[in-house]
Amino acid sequence: MKIETFALERWMTTYETQVEYDIAESGILPLTTRELLDLESPSERDRILSDLLHLRLGYSEAPGSLALRSLLAATYRDTGPEHVLVTTGAIEANFLLLNVLLDPGDHVVAVAPAYQQVHSVPRAIGCDLDLWHVRDEDSFRFDLQDLERLVTPRTRLIIVNTPHNPTGALLRAEELRQVYDLAASVGADVLGDEAYRWLELPGGPPLASPVRNLGDRGISVGTLSKPFGLPGLRIGWLAGPADLVARCWAMRDYVSLSPGKLNDALAVFALTHRGRLIERTRLIVERNLEIADRWFAEHADLASWTRPRAGLLALMRYHLDMPSLALANRLAEEQSVMLAPGSAFGFEGHLRLGIGQDPAVFAEGLARTARCLAGLRETVRVGSPGSPSAVGTASGQ
Ligand SMILES: Cc1ncc(COP(=O)(O)O)c(C=O)c1O
Repeated sequence: MKIETFALERWMTTYETQVEYDIAESGILPLTTRELLDLESPSERDRILSDLLHLRLGYSEAPGSLALRSLLAATYRDTGPEHVLVTTGAIEANFLLLNVLLDPGDHVVAVAPAYQQVHSVPRAIGCDLDLWHVRDEDSFRFDLQDLERLVTPRTRLIIVNTPHNPTGALLRAEELRQVYDLAASVGADVLGDEAYRWLELPGGPPLASPVRNLGDRGISVGTLSKPFGLPGLRIGWLAGPADLVARCWAMRDYVSLSPGKLNDALAVFALTHRGRLIERTRLIVERNLEIADRWFAEHADLASWTRPRAGLLALMRYHLDMPSLALANRLAEEQSVMLAPGSAFGFEGHLRLGIGQDPAVFAEGLARTARCLAGLRETVRVGSPGSPSAVGTASGQ
């Protein structure tokens, strides 16, 4: 397969290990292994640690351990372990699904902007891709009428991502139901990239339940990376009809074969403590939202935002006539701050902000951003930026 470069991923790897204040990240501050195991009482933790030390590091059960698939299945309606395939992150789940479900020439509708993979892989397969744009003039909302105009009897797949990376937009339960019914009416499936599941915001609207719960045309993709702060485990999954799971598994034989055994075991542990991990995430996000609200109020002359409705990401609109890539490079090089250029998502004049970082890092990153923007106002015109720059147009991490 010939496929275009994952543009934002390339940009982020230039800076993410260099900067001190990475406030572009799409996940929550990762846990250490100790912090994870400390969710247990000391005696139970010691027992689990001893089990892990004795774990023979052979190949694991190829579709993911029965224990892990059973725990995941229990988070969906009418779902058993045979409906779940554990994958190397949500990225592999998406990759397998797109390759198994789609053929050259198939019509696909995907939300835009999006995690670039869900545009690039259908294009590489040779699909006819139409983009369902999140509307920014309407404070980043999904417009169902736009989707109705795009879906045709030829449509094979609709790809949604809710809560949405990078805008923080959300499909409410009744809206997701409409997407599902529309797909069903033309015999299409819905791939729900639910990487930001379980990430309701304090005071925000409730999340729709996973698209898998709506019926067999709904396929849910999930991950431990974002809601649980465990991206290094590289554990994701897909949940859908058993025959589709079997086909994805058969393709996976050629890609990664099976999850890492230690990672699978730690994922079981993490899911057993899901409530505590989500609570940790909620506390970090609550703190960062307070910091961000204050910052945007204090610096209304420099920048504004649409507060995310859910998830961990939002776009900051800066009030300067400067391309976002140039600004993002400058922030990284001069202030050691990482904010992702909006041009990578088709939103020039914006920077993507992640609200899952360590609150101290988040606050200092924003303080430095304000200093940089204020300094630039002395030399650069206030207003909206000129021509978009070249990181590509889709979402990254
Ligand atoms: C919307 C979305 N889907 C999928 C992924 C892939 O996540 P992972 O492979 O870490 O589970 C990401 C990562 O940023 C994402 O933002």
